[in-house]
Amino acid sequence: MPDTLAHPVRFGSNAGQPVTRRDGIAKVTGTATFTADNSPENLLHAVYVPATIARGRVTHLDVAAAEAHPGVTMVMTPGNRPALQGDPSAKPTMFSFRIEVLQDDSVRYAGQPIALVLGETLEAATEGARLLNPRYAAEPARTRIDDDEAAPVEPGGFGRPAGVEHGDVAAGHAAATKAIDVTYETSAQYHNAMETHAVVAQWEGDKLSLDVPSQALLMSCAGYAYFFGIPAENVTIRAPYLGGGFGSKAIPTGPQVLAILAAKETGRPVKLMLTRQQMFGPVGHRGATRQRLRLGIDDGAALTVIDHEGLAATSSFDDFVEPAANASQGLYAAGALRSAHRAVRLDVGTPGPMRAPGEASGSAALECAMDEMAEAAGIDPLEFRLRNYAETEPGTGKPYSSKALRECYMQGAERFGWSGRPLLPRQMKDENGLLTGWGMGTALFPCPMFAADARATLRSDGSALVETSAIDMGQGAWTALAQIAADSLGLPLDMVEFRAGHSSLPDGGVAGGSGHTATAGGALHAAGGDVIRQLGEIAAADPESPLHGAGNAAFSARDGRLYVDGDDSRSDSFADILARAGSAELVGNGSASRAPEDAEKFSMHSHGAVFAEVKVDPDLCQVRVTRMVGAFAAGRIINPKLAESQLLGGMIWGISFALHEEAKHDPRTGRIVNADFAGYHVPVNADVTGLEVLTVHEDDPYVNALGIKGVGEIGIVGSVGAIANAIWHATGHRIRRFPIRIEDLLTA
Ligand code: MOS
Repeated sequence: MPDTLAHPVRFGSNAGQPVTRRDGIAKVTGTATFTADNSPENLLHAVYVPATIARGRVTHLDVAAAEAHPGVTMVMTPGNRPALQGDPSAKPTMFSFRIEVLQDDSVRYAGQPIALVLGETLEAATEGARLLNPRYAAEPARTRIDDDEAAPVEPGGFGRPAGVEHGDVAAGHAAATKAIDVTYETSAQYHNAMETHAVVAQWEGDKLSLDVPSQALLMSCAGYAYFFGIPAENVTIRAPYLGGGFGSKAIPTGPQVLAILAAKETGRPVKLMLTRQQMFGPVGHRGATRQRLRLGIDDGAALTVIDHEGLAATSSFDDFVEPAANASQGLYAAGALRSAHRAVRLDVGTPGPMRAPGEASGSAALECAMDEMAEAAGIDPLEFRLRNYAETEPGTGKPYSSKALRECYMQGAERFGWSGRPLLPRQMKDENGLLTGWGMGTALFPCPMFAADARATLRSDGSALVETSAIDMGQGAWTALAQIAADSLGLPLDMVEFRAGHSSLPDGGVAGGSGHTATAGGALHAAGGDVIRQLGEIAAADPESPLHGAGNAAFSARDGRLYVDGDDSRSDSFADILARAGSAELVGNGSASRAPEDAEKFSMHSHGAVFAEVKVDPDLCQVRVTRMVGAFAAGRIINPKLAESQLLGGMIWGISFALHEEAKHDPRTGRIVNADFAGYHVPVNADVTGLEVLTVHEDDPYVNALGIKGVGEIGIVGSVGAIANAIWHATGHRIRRFPIRIEDLLTA
């Protein structure tokens, strides 16, 4: 193993416990305050008007009719929109996109804002918006991926993925004794968090207070500040609760910026909350892809080449290219490896990161291609993956910081009963005559870390307050983070007050990339450690303390007491130490980020294996996922209950991706015809039966100080392929387009 010394971190009795989320009661009793629950005095309601064509110009808006409606106070259009200080096409922060804020009369996608109407009531503003009756000069909308329009991606920056090439790809193709060349398609999906995007904006001079759901508070402050030409510290964001985010709430969006502008212009607080339909366009989505995979094997079923070309839809005016082909970079040992991306510009809103960006779409194609290759080789799909198991990172040869994928395969297969699987398709029928199939997929997700700060304050009564701006998207982060903080302070959880979700607190970093617990948790852990270190110094110098003179000895903390490490006979209580020192409180600070050297030395990934059973009606071709087992190794699990819930959620999204979710464009107008929950299908309870999660033990001394790899996204990753492969196993049909629909199977 590599010789880097791990940072030894000891946990107390809180981490590892399946604590129920601390904000659960507030949420289920309705006392948790979400953005749109805030209604300051003198509030104006904003409603934005979405374009109903996808490309062209707005030629007329009946502004007079809207203005004449009782209760309408202002109609903002490109004709009268007040100036913004920042350029809407600029990208002020790391995850920024170009935004539409009524710059001109052009329409670049359906759902783009073309006006904002303000009213004394939501009803007045809604009716005013309806009265605008837009007319357009429409041009033909481009909403389908056309290979002829594809252009290579210039790598560089967020949303423009670089490909990789390792080994001699041509030689890998030539050396193959069996090969496949298959193309898979994935559909556009839209983030549909329970809480739609919203903002409540209030100005006081050049100071801006916002209630706005954000996955990255301080970054969002900087983004909003840029557009209004004020320092970032003039922007305050409150976001105590979020109703989901999935990647779409990391950044300022056009409608939100317009509402803030309206508040500035009117001198009154303004509230905007997007409707469900308005979520389909201006706030990002998972772009559609078409992926070609060419795989080859030798006589021993060893991969000679993985050649993965991704073609992704992006908008006409910005770049976000789904990095789908990169899913093939890290998973299997192959003689040669290539991933490359091209993009097609369509008249759609700019795509963006959506839960497991790249990996979800890319692995859907890769895992199906692996199944097809195993079929060609005539061997079991799990056996095929084991023969091509990567002991070091493919291409680079870098060691893994840890990799318990083999254990995931074994434990998952055992639990599922995989060994009883017939090799050939259409071999199993249940007692009701339903075709039954079993499929599997491998899951992989990187372990990024962002930078974060935190503060811990020990109070004279021995309790503590810990603070970071870190948000809870709904995944239970506040509970897991409080568990980490409590352990770092040697306190029971109920002695720790956790304050978060406000931009005035130390920067909790970004809740994204499955790195939130590691990032904010690392900072909290360091802050608690700083308190304990200072407490040790005070006690050691205090003649009245049992710890007096302990000097350079290390201290450990548990149950509100400080001990000389390894010597339980000497201890002192936190409260007594502070009381004798005459201190009302003791403040510690901490921060966390990953040293670039560590990231260089190791390949850091979470891994998993997903096994799925489907039943398919032989006449109606209706597919039911009847059973799934996901086995995941993701380093240290801080809260097994919440981690399991995250992984289950990911697997359910896998069902959604495989069988349900698809935004469908009307080719005539470019509009999304199913922009609501009636037509845009996501799994409901009846679609989700028999899901099981196993977390495989994994100690990772290198990934970060806490050994946490993250569980937010990996659950989707192997699940899509597992379901599609199970459908093949049940029916003998390979459907190479997601979601797999009844009509695809009927006509296969
Ligand atoms: Mo995410 S797609 O890292 O919020």
